[in-house]
Amino acid sequence: MTLSAVQADISLHHLAIASNNPDKLANFYSNVMGMKLQKKSNNEFLCEGPLRKIIITKGEDKGLNYVGMACRHDSNLKKFKEFLLDKKIKVSEFQSVYFDAGSFSVIDPDQNIICFGIPKESYKNTSTGINGPLQHITFASLDVEAFQNFYHNQLGFDITDRVVAVDGTLATCFTTSNHEHHTIACFKSDRKGMDHHSYEAGEWNYIKDWCDHFASNHIQLMWGPGRHGPGNNLFVFIEDIDGNWIEVSAELETVHGRPTKNWPQSERTLNLWGKAILRS
Ligand SMILES: [Fe+2]
Repeated sequence: MTLSAVQADISLHHLAIASNNPDKLANFYSNVMGMKLQKKSNNEFLCEGPLRKIIITKGEDKGLNYVGMACRHDSNLKKFKEFLLDKKIKVSEFQSVYFDAGSFSVIDPDQNIICFGIPKESYKNTSTGINGPLQHITFASLDVEAFQNFYHNQLGFDITDRVVAVDGTLATCFTTSNHEHHTIACFKSDRKGMDHHSYEAGEWNYIKDWCDHFASNHIQLMWGPGRHGPGNNLFVFIEDIDGNWIEVSAELETVHGRPTKNWPQSERTLNLWGKAILRS
């Protein structure tokens, strides 16, 4: 028996990102995103808070080394790997100190590396801090159709919502690997890479706590508060010191097999409450 990504119940677990100044960026995540900082080497830093983990290594600013996706059960992980092999997808062994043996990776059409594994016990985080588990990542891409084909038809993510441009091309595609509205999404852009990553605070009051915490660190909101159309989630955005966009979200829709909905590409789709940041 094989399992698609949704059937295997896969969640975003950690991100490994690159920076020209990894120590400074790690200090930012430690202070601003409420994470404990561990220096692994001169060029690698682990930032870890409750259910949120960012690994920062020396490299080009705004680089994404890989996306770490977690499966709760080893049997599900193996059945998901079988699902990929049946689809003739190239699956590579992936060794990580954060995952048990048996983790593996695939490469998407934009060369983003997506890893799947079982988190090691020592990295199942229980530390305290403002609520905000790492929940989704979105990509920027020149070709959202290729993203949709890969994540839906190849990996078995469900498509929950799409934003469609006037010419019929895809402006955004939201896909999920569990019951959350999206775990990985993609925005049409004139570049490839990360668009943003998001922490799901769950409730509006936690967003207030995050905003007060940002203010105490002299960090201004760059967008929001607002409410997205697709996903119906409340949001605020800030930028890290490298210019990576960070979202804190609440009330993200949970989905259980509802039909995909198409939205027009408009300011209101991106923000029901006010101004939007249109990517293309
Ligand atoms: Fe988001």
